Amino acid sequence: MSTVVLGIDLGTSAVKVSAIDRQGRVVAQASAGYTLQQPHPGYNEQNPEDWVTQTTQAIHELLQQSAIESNQIEGLSYSGQMHGLVLLDGEANVLRPAILWNDTRTTTQCRELEAQFGDEFIKITGNRPLEGFTLPKLLWVKENEPDIWEQAKTFLLPKDYLRYRMTGKLAMDMSDATGTVLLDIATSQWSEILCKELDIPLTLCPPLIDSTAYVGHVNQTYARLSGLSINTKVFGGAADNAAGAVGAGILSSDKALVSIGTSGVVLKYEDDVQTDYRGVLQYECHAFPRKYYSMGVTLAAGYSLNWFKQTFAPNENFETVVTTAKQSTIGANGLLFAPYIVGERAPYADAAIRGSFIGVDGSHQRSDFVRAVLEGIIFSFEDLIRLYQHNGADFKTIVSIGGGAKSALWLQIQADIFNCKVVSLKNEQGPGMGAAMIAATGLGWFKTLVDCAQTFVHYGKTYYPVTDHVSQYQEIYQLFQKIYVQTQPITAGLLAQRNQH
Ligand code: XUL
Repeated sequence: MSTVVLGIDLGTSAVKVSAIDRQGRVVAQASAGYTLQQPHPGYNEQNPEDWVTQTTQAIHELLQQSAIESNQIEGLSYSGQMHGLVLLDGEANVLRPAILWNDTRTTTQCRELEAQFGDEFIKITGNRPLEGFTLPKLLWVKENEPDIWEQAKTFLLPKDYLRYRMTGKLAMDMSDATGTVLLDIATSQWSEILCKELDIPLTLCPPLIDSTAYVGHVNQTYARLSGLSINTKVFGGAADNAAGAVGAGILSSDKALVSIGTSGVVLKYEDDVQTDYRGVLQYECHAFPRKYYSMGVTLAAGYSLNWFKQTFAPNENFETVVTTAKQSTIGANGLLFAPYIVGERAPYADAAIRGSFIGVDGSHQRSDFVRAVLEGIIFSFEDLIRLYQHNGADFKTIVSIGGGAKSALWLQIQADIFNCKVVSLKNEQGPGMGAAMIAATGLGWFKTLVDCAQTFVHYGKTYYPVTDHVSQYQEIYQLFQKIYVQTQPITAGLLAQRNQH
């Protein structure tokens, strides 16, 4: 067998390791899960050691179950859940559990940043300070855990920590670094202004690298632990959304990416950072050097469906539950769902909003609720597509990846609600494929990621909007749009009341 690369996709609920050959074919795959700790409402933490242990287990399994020899793995790279804060002391020991992207404890710090910097913050970082991002988490630790802050010597993001444990090298790639909102997006350097004004030592910020940069080889310790070879080269990697965009061939701005993982994302490739989204959409550095992407995030996309299934159909198979939506109708027989069950990021940056089912009728069946959840997630994406259109975007194709691409019904719902052609990938691997492409390009198998995409990315079935469905969904969307404003005071009040008791 010829050589392969590994794409390691460090997600929120599991890590998936894929071995990909030079033709872009998946030759082996293994995954391992880990838990989320929620010590208080709104808190979401993970133990970084679990990422290391479970990645190691997945690599073991991949090597055991396939015919791949460790010396055939020429290189590897990563896709990582974004924004999670991993604080390290001078010996690179982890100081506290990682605070994740979906943790909303930092509202106070976000308001303080807004008051101190105003619009200047967006100018510097390309983003508004929002609860999920890393800088407000750093400030939270500084204000609430001074003993830990005292000992902190550097910080990393989740996949950077994993890379550190595999190579012994501390680094952060640009695409993930923009998600800290401590990076000056125009210069791709840590912002000296923000560090100075916020009294964060610049030395806390790790060295910056490009996604395809060679970092080092797998070190002796990790090779012994995992069965990997010390000859395997390790490359920077990218934020999961950047890696997802690479793996889906989003290389021009006439294609949008719609991705459903735990969160959901509508993403657009950007040549520069000129369009002023006023912080409603995020701007991030791409995995391509000096290129960018913008995106809007629905915090609970796959999470909403997962929550629904675990709560109301815990013993049934996931696909079966989703398929029951076929028994319902367009508009779920008059039932609407707003997926704000952990707060929302875009277009409404609101940690206190909560979800709702509107229009519940005595005749509704569970299948209507499932359909309403599928549609509600896509309506919240439509909010973002319209925002892009309002800013001049003209999408010819929407590429759908993740959970939303696993069901033909859900793909058709996307085409009908977006009123745009939707394509899935032939061999959907999510951001793990992007991670493998980064390793393949880093190794020099291809000159650029764009060249690599020509061999690795293949589109599958196309779903076209059906005129009659489109007009029905446009009417229902008018109603969906009213939900946020009208439910905001009620759900925020309920949350405050609950938090008091
Ligand atoms: C993006 C975001 C999420 C995470 C999920 O800003 O917070 O999409 O990257 O891993």
